[in-house]
Amino acid sequence: PRPFVYRDRLLHCDGADLTTLAAEHGTPLYVYSARHISHRLQLFKDAFAAHPHTICYAIKANSSLAILRLLAKQGAGFDIVSGGELERVRKAHKPALKKVVFSGVGKQTWEIDAALDADILLFNVESEAELHLLAARAEARSKVARFALRVNPDVFAETHPYISTGLSEHKFGIDIKAARSIYRSAKKMKWLDPAGVSVHIGSQIRKVDPFAAALTRVTSLIADLRRDGHNIRYIDAGGGLGIDYGTTAFDPAKQVAKYAAALTKGLGTESAHLLLEPGRFIIAQAGALLTRVLYVKKNGTKTFVITDAGMNDLIRPALYHAHHEIIPIKEPAKQPAGKQPLPETGENKVDVVGPVCESGDFFARDRVLPPVKPNDLLLLLDAGAYGMSQTSNYNSRPRPAELLIDGATTKLIRRRETMRDLLAPELL
Ligand code: LLP
Repeated sequence: PRPFVYRDRLLHCDGADLTTLAAEHGTPLYVYSARHISHRLQLFKDAFAAHPHTICYAIKANSSLAILRLLAKQGAGFDIVSGGELERVRKAHKPALKKVVFSGVGKQTWEIDAALDADILLFNVESEAELHLLAARAEARSKVARFALRVNPDVFAETHPYISTGLSEHKFGIDIKAARSIYRSAKKMKWLDPAGVSVHIGSQIRKVDPFAAALTRVTSLIADLRRDGHNIRYIDAGGGLGIDYGTTAFDPAKQVAKYAAALTKGLGTESAHLLLEPGRFIIAQAGALLTRVLYVKKNGTKTFVITDAGMNDLIRPALYHAHHEIIPIKEPAKQPAGKQPLPETGENKVDVVGPVCESGDFFARDRVLPPVKPNDLLLLLDAGAYGMSQTSNYNSRPRPAELLIDGATTKLIRRRETMRDLLAPELL
């Protein structure tokens, strides 16, 4: 069930009325449903129940401490890509540090040190040079570093070019053909434990076949590695499972079941503890961005709806031409049966744009919307993933506040930034 629904013609997030929340907390405002987040995590757990596995939620999708704590309490581990994300795990739920995997092509010395000190589960190493650095830092601390090479399987995943990562032309991972000899050389390094193999082919991947193809290649590498005498215990299958932005037909339970079947097929007869790094699938549809209409204006033939949220608050449309459904907070009157609810007369076709001084600052172009006027509230759906985590202060705009709705209770999990926050790091 979707968390954002009309009740008495007004949009609610579970038990909370968004009109009231906007009045109390202002806009732009991110709103998340705790129930929905838990539900999505549960879908993943159920789909992989037959395999020993750990779900390492990809923090970059939404790094809110309250959300991390919610997930950790339900057993999730985490995929981190920086020392900052490591710090978030420590703060949100310290025991979860032992379920952390550390990905990323550019780990710095201090980040490796911090992760070694925190005794994380696994380093996903992306180059030979990084492996040598890891060995040196582990030796200096007399600590064993469990690692997996993130291999690049050269598999094409149909998605936006900016978020596709599994081809040899991408910067990610180590050529799968070179992996075996690197594992062999790691055997000579006392403080390195070659514990797994990892792969991640991209994000917002809707067809599951590429996942199976990638895992098949990884599994055959694992067979070789085991023959070479390495004690491989983990397969990190990465993240990337896509959602449908804006269609109500989307069945997440079926999608994750198909995904699990594809991974199982890729595993073949090789068995290992499966690590999964979903981000978007867990959090995207649990969250939405609430914004107020400031102005409506016509330029030539075009109508612009100008909102108080801008590209600095949600950059996905500007960056990837991503589609986010936009719905009014008051349910539009139903048209008589048999008529099109919203005739494509062009009258209601609008561009929904933000206040930022860039033509790329738009949320929708030529979108059919019911009539909107200044002060109306609009909700941008499916904004829970890569929304708040990709915000900036561009145009010196303070970041929005975030609310977590848990049944009947509303928790402010991040206050709106103030002018003081905005200027705090600067020196004159
Ligand atoms: N694991 C690794 C190593 C990753 O690089 C990523 C995402 C994930 C897991 C989680 O992928 P997910 O399950 O969320 O697809 N900003 C873009 C998405 C960038 C994804 C980057 N890596 C967007 O807004 O669509």
